Amino acid sequence: MDYGYFDDDAKEYVITRPDTPLPWINYLGTEDYFGLISNTAGGCSFYRDPRLRRLTRYRYNNVPFDVGGRYIYLRDDQDGDYWSPSWQPVRRPLESYECRQGLSYTSIKAARNGVHAETLYFVPPGETLEVWRVQVRNDRDVRADISLFSSIEFCLWDAQDDATNFQRNFSTGEVEVLDSVIYHKTEYRERRNHFAYFACSELLAGFDTQRDTFLGPYRGWDAPEAVARGECFNSDAHGWAPIGSHHVRLSLESHETRQVVFVLGYAENPLDAKFDPPQSQIINKSQVRPVIERWTDPSNVDAALAALRSTWDEYLSVLRVSTPDEDTNRMVNIWNPYQCMTTFNLSRSMSSFESGIGRGMGFRDSSQDILGFASMIPSRARQRLLDLAATQLATGGANHQYQPLTKRGNAQIGSGFNDDPLWLIFAVSAYLKETGDLGLLDELVPYDNAEGSETPLYEHLGRCVRYTLERLGPHGLPLIGRADWNDCLNLNCFSENSGESFQTTENKEGVVAESVFIAGQFVVASRELVQIARALAKFDDATTLESNARRMVEAIERDGWDGDWFLRAYDYFGNVVGSRSNEEGRIFAEPQGMCVMAGVGVQDGRAARAMTSVRDLLATEHGVMLVQPSFTRYHLELGEISTYPPGYKENGSIFCHVNPWIMIGETMLGHGDAAFAYYRRTNPSARAVISDVHRCEPYVYAQTIAGRDAPTFGEAKNSWLTGSASWHFVAISQWILGIRPELNGLRIDPVLPESWPGFSATRQWRGATYEIVVRQPPGVTGRVGRLLVDDKPVEGNLVPEAPAGSVVRVEAEVATASSD
Ligand code: BGC
Ligand code: NOJ
Repeated sequence: MDYGYFDDDAKEYVITRPDTPLPWINYLGTEDYFGLISNTAGGCSFYRDPRLRRLTRYRYNNVPFDVGGRYIYLRDDQDGDYWSPSWQPVRRPLESYECRQGLSYTSIKAARNGVHAETLYFVPPGETLEVWRVQVRNDRDVRADISLFSSIEFCLWDAQDDATNFQRNFSTGEVEVLDSVIYHKTEYRERRNHFAYFACSELLAGFDTQRDTFLGPYRGWDAPEAVARGECFNSDAHGWAPIGSHHVRLSLESHETRQVVFVLGYAENPLDAKFDPPQSQIINKSQVRPVIERWTDPSNVDAALAALRSTWDEYLSVLRVSTPDEDTNRMVNIWNPYQCMTTFNLSRSMSSFESGIGRGMGFRDSSQDILGFASMIPSRARQRLLDLAATQLATGGANHQYQPLTKRGNAQIGSGFNDDPLWLIFAVSAYLKETGDLGLLDELVPYDNAEGSETPLYEHLGRCVRYTLERLGPHGLPLIGRADWNDCLNLNCFSENSGESFQTTENKEGVVAESVFIAGQFVVASRELVQIARALAKFDDATTLESNARRMVEAIERDGWDGDWFLRAYDYFGNVVGSRSNEEGRIFAEPQGMCVMAGVGVQDGRAARAMTSVRDLLATEHGVMLVQPSFTRYHLELGEISTYPPGYKENGSIFCHVNPWIMIGETMLGHGDAAFAYYRRTNPSARAVISDVHRCEPYVYAQTIAGRDAPTFGEAKNSWLTGSASWHFVAISQWILGIRPELNGLRIDPVLPESWPGFSATRQWRGATYEIVVRQPPGVTGRVGRLLVDDKPVEGNLVPEAPAGSVVRVEAEVATASSD
């Protein structure tokens, strides 16, 4: 089935039927105010923290999926017919339907019985509100009398509490209605100074703020009584479930169009100016009144949308590529960086698979998100690095997560994931290579946010390394702790109690279980830090780091190699995991990728053997599986990984995050065809033709695609908030296309498929523009053999940094014959 197409010029994905296999969502907002929005207007909004500052309610795990949204109802007042111009929630048949998922905006249009409506949803840059602009057009030859109803469901308190504590919450709801604005002020009387408002540009025929009055008893969002009867009840919510619904009557002449603007926003008042008059319980509206006035004025909408578009044009101008492959171009130029921005902003907090309650900003997740984002807005990446480092523990370890509002470590989820700290080095290094801003390393940053504990950031990085070195196991490999990158490999957990969380439980004191993955990661991180140390002229540090890395490589070669691939781990008892001697779980993808990225075995052929094993044992037409054979039963000594049925999630799905590591590994061996073949298998745009199998959005990466052992082989889940975004961007842009910022220059090191004649690209880097053309003569595969910078030959493949403002012409020719 065809669900839509890419409109690359408009930078939009156009959905042409509302009943997509799953809700295909988009995000509104790029800074502090965010919204999730599906192709049928489902979703909700929040300010910074989807748990503590969620404005509207979204019902996870409902039937049908995707209930709760920014719903508009239209009613033909002549015959009582009513429908949703976003299809949901009424789901009456539409004569036409189109949703355009754009960069931080969504527009949905539909027609029924000659009445056409188009709603544009977006967050104006710099604002903490969202605008919905509804344009209703009468395509009939006669006048149409139309009632338009808006609706949202407020839940601006703790979202966890919202889903559990009904004995309290059904008694706390409060609103105010003034002119055409509905103010939501539940709990404002006590310890909050923030509130939400929902405004309309028109005079109202009526309103409702009490959900069950608007819907009517035993009725759902698909058939609100107010809409059915064509009139609101002007209800005032006291307790129960406060909502906002405006009723506007439109009398449209034939072919007349009218605009109605709704604004949903978040506001805070100073603590000593919450009420007006001060002794009252009435919200002080002096600050929001002008904001509401401005954004309900339709004449401001177009300019704000244009500003949003040009902001995105600017972000995307950092890298523009033109390759022979359309799916590559579209992902690199538009959707992949867009998703990188989203993961940077939201970490793993809120999507249609993440409820926004349990997951704050993950230390490893946010660190890796920076890899794909640092080039877009370096100043925000810089701040994030400082925030992350400030949650690091004095031991060098990391709080596994921090809360976005307070930026403090989340004690509930704890620490002891022994890969965590090393990712900070990856992230800092990516930022430094992008910007050259070595001053970052001198910034004084505390540990665990404790005042007085500050050291320069550089010292934090040193402690990351030391954390690993102080926790080596019997084979000189890093202890895994609670888990490593694969946080379902819980080797010290031994959970027999179904109530326990694999993420926080450790039933045995583990001083034996070791991770070959962390070993590889340690080598990569150490090499990055060596370069940083050298740039700071700390040559002794560099030497020490190098010898530590060398020892780790020796440990991997000695005790981390299984004959044809890298081992995964040693368990609590010192038994091998991910070995030919295991019955299930014989080979894991992640140590193959990370160890080859670390350069282990590149010289002696082991790396190539590992990649061949990946190809033979883990690769499928949908991508590379995480483990084979998948576990068929629960292994107490392995933990959560074996809780999933075979082929799902960490138990043998195509875990997209890991696929780019394999691609990078292949490029390190000079295998352009293999790297690019893997790249295309997970590329969402290339998978659009199999949307009935893939099911998730064709414009973003998902975390997981069911593996061969699953009955639903090829089906994606958990789209949007995944480290796959950043790593795919790194793999394609820096390793396959090979445009790789380094501390001292821009490396041009493409490893291309043999059939490509080359490609061209524009890269903004440190204020200069690099116009890059790569040529690959027919029949040649290999690395760059000739490099011209502004027509002058340069030795090697490193383009020196040019002064800001300059335009540099780079011509590279692939010349060396392939090594295999
Ligand atoms: C999932 C992992 C996830 C972890 C932490 C597990 O259930 O399988 O992918 O990282 O939970 O939330
Ligand atoms: C998703 C988590 O967010 C990430 O931290 C983890 O590395 C992967 N799952 C693999 O388990």
